[in-house]
Amino acid sequence: MKTLKEAYKNYFTVGAAVSAHWLDEAAETVLAHFDTVTCENEMKYNSIHPHDYQRPDFWAMRHGEKPAPPEITRRERFVHPALETDFSAADKIYNFAMSHGLKIRGHNLMWHASYPWGIFEQLTADELMTNTHEHFGLVAEHFPDCYCWDVVNEAIDDKHGGYLRDTVFKEKFGEDYLFEIYALARKYFPNAELCCNDYNEFDPVKSENILRLVTALNERGLVDVIGCQCHLNAMMEQKHFDGVRRGLDKYADLGLKIHITELDVNAIDWKNPDAAPPEDLQRKVAETYSKLFAIFRDYKGVIENVTLWGVSDKYSWLNHFKNAEKRQNFPLLFDSEYKPKEALQAVIDF
Ligand code: XIL
Repeated sequence: MKTLKEAYKNYFTVGAAVSAHWLDEAAETVLAHFDTVTCENEMKYNSIHPHDYQRPDFWAMRHGEKPAPPEITRRERFVHPALETDFSAADKIYNFAMSHGLKIRGHNLMWHASYPWGIFEQLTADELMTNTHEHFGLVAEHFPDCYCWDVVNEAIDDKHGGYLRDTVFKEKFGEDYLFEIYALARKYFPNAELCCNDYNEFDPVKSENILRLVTALNERGLVDVIGCQCHLNAMMEQKHFDGVRRGLDKYADLGLKIHITELDVNAIDWKNPDAAPPEDLQRKVAETYSKLFAIFRDYKGVIENVTLWGVSDKYSWLNHFKNAEKRQNFPLLFDSEYKPKEALQAVIDF
């Protein structure tokens, strides 16, 4: 049986997100099948600066409760994140990649879901900008060889009729903040590709907003790659596959590269997460992968990299997503013992 990277060597590089806590057990599979890696969480702000602070209950906030903002102690460590860093988990992955000649995608520099909640809100715009400069500078110095960076992750709003997501960064820096942040990324990462990464990227409305943003960034020379997360599912119908093609066509027209950044195929019906999965669902996952990779192959030359959001079903974020804790999902190409699944075979045989 061919390996994944052998099968795709004339198409695009293939990658996997990995986590420091299971990297050792996955190493053999990663080295055999993948050309590139991404840190699943380890390069995110909260991982690199694990400030000891009282985080408000995010879920409570979603249900309308407004917890009191956490009290800021030792304010300077939030303004100057260099005062409190922990690169150890990211180092483990970065050094693994470097020592084995794997390329590494940087994920990510700024994200509304990874910062000290309730604290940044209390900083002034100048303080938050100082923080941003310092964080980007530290990361650039520490990880000089990431070939690509997701700059502002998931900046587009999900609400129809909206454009940019309301975040603390937009609130402090203003509507045009993305130009400033991508320009900073260019300054600190002059040799890396800059990527605009988002999800629901084939939704007709959201994709228009992604195009609007990427076009504006591109006019300023601030973006090189469109990142399509591709968190998809086994219930996809033909019209959805057609939607993937339509979306890729629109993105390809911009003349930028495309990365598939976080591919996985969910098999759980979130509305009924405890229901036993239909017998043939593993087969459906395999068929979904097969159809998706057939589409991706048609965009050879435009798609530079396809990254899976994990290696084995044992550790997928979808096992903990929403209320799915009660049973394991099976969204990836290797089973819980790192054995190749039907889905891997389906992707390799073409
Ligand atoms: C997820 C990780 O997989 C989880 O372990 C973590 O708890 C939350 O973040 N979009 C992204 C990724 O850009 O960073 C997210 O990763 C999944 C959705």
